[in-house]
Amino acid sequence: MSPTSRCLATYTLLVLAASACTEQSSQCPQAQGLIGDGIARFSPDDVACESIPASMALMEPRLIEGGIPADWQTQPTFTTDGETRRATIAIEEGTSLYGTGEIAGPLLRNGAVTEAWGEQPFRQPPPPGVSPFEYDDQTPNLYQAHPWVLGVRADGSSFGVLADTTYRARIDLANGIEFSARAPFPVIVIEGPSPQDVLSKLADLSGTLELPPLWALGYQQARWSYTPDTRVREIADEFRARSIPCDVIWLDINYMDRFRIFTFDQETFPEPAALNDYLHGKGFKSVWILDPGVKFEPGYPVYDQGLEGDHFIRKPDGELFVAGSWPGDSVWPDYTSPDTRNWWQAYIPDFLDNGIDGLWIDLNEPSIVTPPGVPFPEDLLHRGGGDLPPGTHARYHNAYGMLMSQATHEGMKSARPERRPFLLSRSNYTGGHRYAAMWTGDNSATWDHLYWSVTMTLNMGLSGQPFAGPDIGGFFRAPTDSLYAHWIGVGAFFPFSRTHTVQLSPPQEPWSFGPQVEAIARAAIERRYRMLPYIYTLFRESSLNGLPVWRPVFFADPADPSLRAEDHAFLIGADVLVEPVLTEGDPHAFETPSGIWREFTLVGEDPSQTPELPVLKIRGGAIVPLGRVVQSTTEPLLEPLTLVVSLNAQGRAEGGLYEDAGEGYGYQTGDYRLTTYSAQQIDNTVEVRIASEEGDRERPERRVDVVVVTDSGTFEGSGSETSTIIVSLD
Ligand code: NOJ
Repeated sequence: MSPTSRCLATYTLLVLAASACTEQSSQCPQAQGLIGDGIARFSPDDVACESIPASMALMEPRLIEGGIPADWQTQPTFTTDGETRRATIAIEEGTSLYGTGEIAGPLLRNGAVTEAWGEQPFRQPPPPGVSPFEYDDQTPNLYQAHPWVLGVRADGSSFGVLADTTYRARIDLANGIEFSARAPFPVIVIEGPSPQDVLSKLADLSGTLELPPLWALGYQQARWSYTPDTRVREIADEFRARSIPCDVIWLDINYMDRFRIFTFDQETFPEPAALNDYLHGKGFKSVWILDPGVKFEPGYPVYDQGLEGDHFIRKPDGELFVAGSWPGDSVWPDYTSPDTRNWWQAYIPDFLDNGIDGLWIDLNEPSIVTPPGVPFPEDLLHRGGGDLPPGTHARYHNAYGMLMSQATHEGMKSARPERRPFLLSRSNYTGGHRYAAMWTGDNSATWDHLYWSVTMTLNMGLSGQPFAGPDIGGFFRAPTDSLYAHWIGVGAFFPFSRTHTVQLSPPQEPWSFGPQVEAIARAAIERRYRMLPYIYTLFRESSLNGLPVWRPVFFADPADPSLRAEDHAFLIGADVLVEPVLTEGDPHAFETPSGIWREFTLVGEDPSQTPELPVLKIRGGAIVPLGRVVQSTTEPLLEPLTLVVSLNAQGRAEGGLYEDAGEGYGYQTGDYRLTTYSAQQIDNTVEVRIASEEGDRERPERRVDVVVVTDSGTFEGSGSETSTIIVSLD
C-alpha cells in the first residue's frame, strides 16, 4: 500500500476528523498525523511542512499512519510572535509534570521555566565562595538539551510532549506547557494509560540504550586528575588493599601531552598500555577522557589531518573558527558531517589499542574554556551531509554532543566489534542515550546537590536517559565527612556510580575521610555489588523497553496523588524502594506507596545505626536476585545466587534474573539466560523454584540461598537452583 492509500485507509477506518492526509503531507518527514500507536505529531500549519527541520531525536523518520483522532486528548496550539514560535498545551488540574532533561531542583517540574540549550553554566560575579561554573536550582539550562515533558494526570494516565527541535527551546511550565523557539517546530505527543507506557513509546521513537558491559555498572573512581601513572597504580592498589570494591579508574585530561587529544604525556604517562595492563591485572578497567577541541597547531597530526580533510567548523566568511580550549587556541570538528565523524572514528582504534576500556567525552556542548562563558557564535557554519542539510550553529548546537557521542560510540564499536562500548558524555540531546551514558556535570559538595543528584537522575530517566549519575561527593568544594558518607551511601545505587572531584581539591577516595566513613563507604559499595544482578537485569529490561532503572516512587501507583512529589525516596526497578537521608538535620517524612514494602538488608547493615546507608524495602510479591560481594566484576558474582523473597497478601512472589557473558554480543544470538523464579507459601513453608527460563546459556550447578523477608522476621534456606528450595517459616 502506498503511503497515501494507507493514510486514507486508516483515515476512513477510524472515522477521523482533523488533519487531512494529503500525499504531500504524508511524505514530508514532519507532517502532522498519527505516527505510531498512541503517538501523534502536530505541525504548525502556516509553514510548509518541508521547511521544518527533520527530527534529530527520532531514530528514523516516522511517516504518517493516519489522521489524528477527533477525541485525541492532548493538543498543542501553535502561535507566532515575531520570530518566536510557540506551542502551548493546556493541562488538566491535578496533572504533574516531569522530565525537561538535566535541571537541578525538585522532581516535580510544575511551575518551572527552563531551557533546552546545552551549556556549561557560568555566573559572573558568582556568590562569595562559589565558583562561577557552579549551578543550582535557579540555573535554567545545563549541559544537555531535552525538550521533553512527561505529564501524569490525576487518574494516573499519562502523556509526553516533545518539542521536536534542536534550536534553543524555552520550556515554560508556569501555566500548562509552553515551548518556544526561534524556528518552526512540530510537537510529538504520546498518550498512554501510564507513565511507564509513555516512556516505552518514547523509546520506540528515540531508541533504547545498548546493554552496557557489566563492568560499567560497577563502582568507579575518578578525580581531575590522577597523575602521574604511578599515582593511578597507587589508587588501584589502595582499593584492593582496603578491600573496597571498584571496577574502574578514570583518567582525566592530565594524561595528555599538553592537552592535545589522542596523545600521552611522555613524562607522566610514558607507557599507557603498561599502566592498563597493571590495572587489568588487578581487576580494574580504565576510562580515558577526550575533548572535542583540537589544538590549533600546524605539525600536530590531528590538526593537520583535520585541516586537510576540511573537518573543522568554519565562520560564515569561510575562516576557521579558533577559540581557547585546554591546549590553548583550538578548532572543533564539525560532527554534522558524516565524513568528519568517520575521520574522528579513525583515531579511536589506535587510542583504544593502549588497553583503554571506555571513553569519556567532555566539553561537548560545545564549550570554550578561555575566556570562560563565551558562547560559540550561533552563525558558525556546519556542513551537514547524509540526512543533515548544512546549517548554522544555532540549529546544530544542541545536537553537537549527541553527534560527537554517535561518532565516538560507532568508532568504539568498529574498532572492537567484540566488545560493548562504554562511553560517558557531558552533553547530549533527546535520543543520545543510544550512544552514551551521562553524569550531571560539575556539581558541588553541598547537601542541596546531594538531593538534586537524586532528582536529576530521576528526571533524566523520565526524559529517556536511564544511565545517569552525579559526581559522588560533589565536584566543586570539599564535602564534609558526613556529606560524603551520605552521598556514597545513596550514590552506590546510582545507575552510573562514580566519585569525581575538581583539580587541586582534597582527596575524595572512599578512605579519605577517616576509618568511620571508610567503613560506611565500603558497606555502601558492597551493597551495590550484592545488588548488581538485579541492576543488570534492569539495564537489560531498559535496553528492551526504555523504562528507567531508577524510578520515582509514584511509578508504584501513578494514580496516588500523595506520591507525586516524593523525591527523596526512589525505586530501583519496580521492586526495591530506597529511602536515603538527603537533608542535614531535617529528616524527611517519606510517602510510601500502598501495598506491602518490607525492610531488608544486604551486608548485615543496620540503617538505624548507620543513617548514611539508606533503608531498603522490597515490594510484597517480589523476588530480588543478589550476588555476593566481590572486589570487581571480574570475579564471579553469582556463587552463590541469593534470592530475597517477599510474599504478597496471597503468599506468592515472583522475580527475574538476567545473565549473560557481561561483555560482547553473544546475548544477541541466544547466549543469555533469563530465569523467572516463583515462590509460594504452603502452610508454614515457602517453596521457591524456577518458574520459566529463556535463552540458550547453559545453567551452571550452583547453590541458591533464599532469604524470605516477612513481617515477623527473616527466614533462610538453601539448595540447588534446579530443585525446589523449601524454607521453613518456623
Ligand atoms: C569538565 C568536566 O565536567 C569535569 O568532570 C572534568 O574533570 C574537567 N572538565 C577536566 O577535564
